[in-house]
Amino acid sequence: MTASDRRVALVTGGTRGIGLGIARALAREACDLALCGRRPEAEVADILHELQGAGAQVLYRPADIARREDRQRLLEAVQERFGCLHVLVNNAGMAPRVRADILEASEESFEEVMRTNLQGPYFLTQAVARWMIDQKRADGHFRCIVNISSISATVASVSRGEYCLSKAALSMATALWAARLAEFDIPVYEVRPGIIDTDMTAPVKEKYDRLIADGLLPQARWGQPADVGRAVAMLVRGDLPYSTGQVILVDGGLTLPRL
Ligand SMILES: NC(=O)c1ccc[n+]([C@@H]2O[C@H](COP(=O)([O-])OP(=O)(O)OC[C@H]3O[C@@H](n4cnc5c(N)ncnc54)[C@H](OP(=O)(O)O)[C@@H]3O)[C@@H](O)[C@H]2O)c1
Repeated sequence: MTASDRRVALVTGGTRGIGLGIARALAREACDLALCGRRPEAEVADILHELQGAGAQVLYRPADIARREDRQRLLEAVQERFGCLHVLVNNAGMAPRVRADILEASEESFEEVMRTNLQGPYFLTQAVARWMIDQKRADGHFRCIVNISSISATVASVSRGEYCLSKAALSMATALWAARLAEFDIPVYEVRPGIIDTDMTAPVKEKYDRLIADGLLPQARWGQPADVGRAVAMLVRGDLPYSTGQVILVDGGLTLPRL
């Protein structure tokens, strides 16, 4: 492989959970990686080292994707380090700090979750799209954008309404950007995970263990970050080039209608 075959992927929240599963999979696809999260670099040094060991050049920037200036600084850092970007994976996201019934839930939580799960990815996509259009015109290389939503885009959980709303809207963001960027041949996809074993689901592990044992999932196991990573790798390889706007379910069949 020559240096020019390598691609650059920005994975938000790429140092733990699903984002790390995606970063590992993309390192195997000859991608160099730009990662961000809220933690300082010292706290993720071991992870960065592991990814470098897989052959990827890795840039890490602490950045809160809900903040405009952080998003801008992040992209400037990617531009300075790599000079190009082929893939954006909008993965970073949060559950509400408190799971509260929608009869009780606060407006503050609504705003925080929306800024993080929707506004941040939406405007990061806008900035990246403008840059990708210029790059695509210059070199013609394959580029794509992937949004990590959730089955919560369609499955109602009344103890985290703001999360469900943020993911449903992210799903529409996928459709909007897919429609807008199609003329530039930049596909935009949505990967919709089900119940995945990460820090985010750790507080509800016993509840989901019980639900899975009771038959919630046709494929009766927890999803792993690597399951999501493999789906994203397929898209980044360019294996679905004529399917912009497509939703890829990685949910063990949870949302299959069954009788
Ligand atoms: N786990 C599931 O069952 C599941 C199912 C469906 C969809 N999802 C979605 O998949 C994505 C990843 O979830 P996960 O389970 O891997 O969660 P996680 O284990 O809590 O990891 C979240 C990642 O996002 C980063 N992050 C969170 N808020 C951020 C912010 N404001 N700015 C920058 N980075 C931020 C975190 O960075 P730090 O580590 O630095 O804090 C971390 O790397 C989320 O969008 C989530 O909604 C998860």
